[in-house]
Amino acid sequence: MADFSLPKDSYFLGFDSSTQSLKATVLDSNLNILTTELVQFDTDLPHYKTKDGVYRDHSVNGRIVSPTLMWVEALDLVLNKLANSNLDIGKIAAVSGSGQQHGSVYWKKGSSSILSTLDPKKALVDQFNDAFSVNESPVWMDSSTTAQCRELEKAVGGALELSQLTGSRGYERFTGPQIKKIFETHPEAYNNTERISLVSSFMASLLIGEYACIDESDGAGMNLMDLKKRAWSTILLEATAPGLEGKLGKIAPAHAVAGNIAPYFVDRFRFNKNCLVIQWSGDNPNSVAGLTLSTPGDLAISLGTSDTVIGITDDPQPRLEGHVFPNPVDTKGYMVMLCYKNGSLTREDVRNRYTESSWEKFAQQLLSTLPLNGGKLGFYYKEHEILPPLPVGFHRYVLENFNGETLEGVNEREVEKEFDGTSEVRAVIEGPFVSMRGHAERFGMPSPPKRLIATGGASVNHSILGIAACVFGCEVYTVERPDSASLGAALRAAHGWLCHNEGSFVPFKCLYEKKVENTSLKSKLVATPDTHLVPKYGLMAKKRLEIENHLVEKLGRL
Ligand code: ADP
Ligand code: XUL
Repeated sequence: MADFSLPKDSYFLGFDSSTQSLKATVLDSNLNILTTELVQFDTDLPHYKTKDGVYRDHSVNGRIVSPTLMWVEALDLVLNKLANSNLDIGKIAAVSGSGQQHGSVYWKKGSSSILSTLDPKKALVDQFNDAFSVNESPVWMDSSTTAQCRELEKAVGGALELSQLTGSRGYERFTGPQIKKIFETHPEAYNNTERISLVSSFMASLLIGEYACIDESDGAGMNLMDLKKRAWSTILLEATAPGLEGKLGKIAPAHAVAGNIAPYFVDRFRFNKNCLVIQWSGDNPNSVAGLTLSTPGDLAISLGTSDTVIGITDDPQPRLEGHVFPNPVDTKGYMVMLCYKNGSLTREDVRNRYTESSWEKFAQQLLSTLPLNGGKLGFYYKEHEILPPLPVGFHRYVLENFNGETLEGVNEREVEKEFDGTSEVRAVIEGPFVSMRGHAERFGMPSPPKRLIATGGASVNHSILGIAACVFGCEVYTVERPDSASLGAALRAAHGWLCHNEGSFVPFKCLYEKKVENTSLKSKLVATPDTHLVPKYGLMAKKRLEIENHLVEKLGRL
């Protein structure tokens, strides 16, 4: 393989604009981490009064949004933090980023001129006060668009047809249904919109001082893009809202240059004027890059605000559950993904309730309980769940006579009361992993995986990962930073720089292959499975999926 090297003494910056925070990771040209920064929305920007980075609107069922301006101010803040650290910002050769997927930003008519005439004497937040036609951006946690999902599915002949065309059936959080709802409920705001960005392309737009394209990987999370052609589907655009194509702009590959950094950042933060901004993408796609997920038998699990299970494939088969997105670092490949809404915030609730808000005590309690939890299965849906599609609610079952050897004679009994505290702790960890295994197998993901690579906030907790190893039946690895989305964005910044320098796409491996042993990318074994438990969890997964089906029949929104 040819030797592609990065310019010596140059840096690469990756952001992650996620649900609860804006993170930054800076790599040197050997791909070692130089510095990281974090802006936590609730605590660093308290005047927006968000909880977990969002507003839960109790007057409209399932509506969950974030103040768009908060993301702008977070960028001011994180750049100030970087400028006040020892980092020589002038050495940054390229920047890229991750956005929480599906969230959308509505630029008011005339805002392109705000973007192109930024005043370096003023903070960004003071210049974008009046830039949005919708001030509260719908985010991925929103579940208020069921009607719009069904209409988009109908427009192409059904849910499976929509999945085969776009990679996913209609999902409430996807941007197409969200745009359709805004058009239907606030037509004046829609008509006053000149551009609609995803969180990813929004942040890229701020950095280049003009509207950035939506990239192919994050674009697949909209229910609007023809997955194979990587182009907008006319039929879906028309079924969503009038004049939409003009408001969405073009789609670009993730490795493309979005533009040069805007003069504002050169003047105010001393960026080099030649610094490239590489297309931003979604946080899950960038995790594929950050974890250097390149072996089809490997799976990644991201345990952040949401929990996701991610694999890669060359031959995707979109189905009624799960998602297919283009791989952001392989122009022909795809990634497959399952997404759970009740991830870290649900674990935190149980921790706060039963283990004095301490992760250490949570880990102790977890280890003091027996695997399989005496057949206790908990279903904790603090928010409307995505997989399975179920409303807010808490359900507890005991598998009677379950010894892990057979399902014959095993009956599930619903219990009204909570389990005791230690059983709740195990149930909130075991249950979701068991569900993930069942759905991953059903989706055709490798089983058992060759290995599991864990990332996201909860991946620092090795007692949690020990259970993942036994449920999935494979070794679990982590990389140096639990935030693979900002790390992946920094790597994609370097990759985009290489592609630009070569004038054509360079395989992603060329970037790190010779460096992986010495850098932040090296993975570390953190948990091994107890092999005799693996088939037992397999039986439990079968039972859990049956119970999920019953719950969906009884309470589901399909
Ligand atoms: P996102 O990027 O989706 O905003 P993160 O990946 O940064 O989220 O994860 C944040 C979550 O990490 C927090 O909500 C917290 O519950 C979880 N977390 C942090 N430390 C631990 C720990 N030691 N054990 C389990 N979970 C943890
Ligand atoms: C993926 C999804 C979430 C967000 C979280 O489809 O909705 O994982 O990307 O940031």
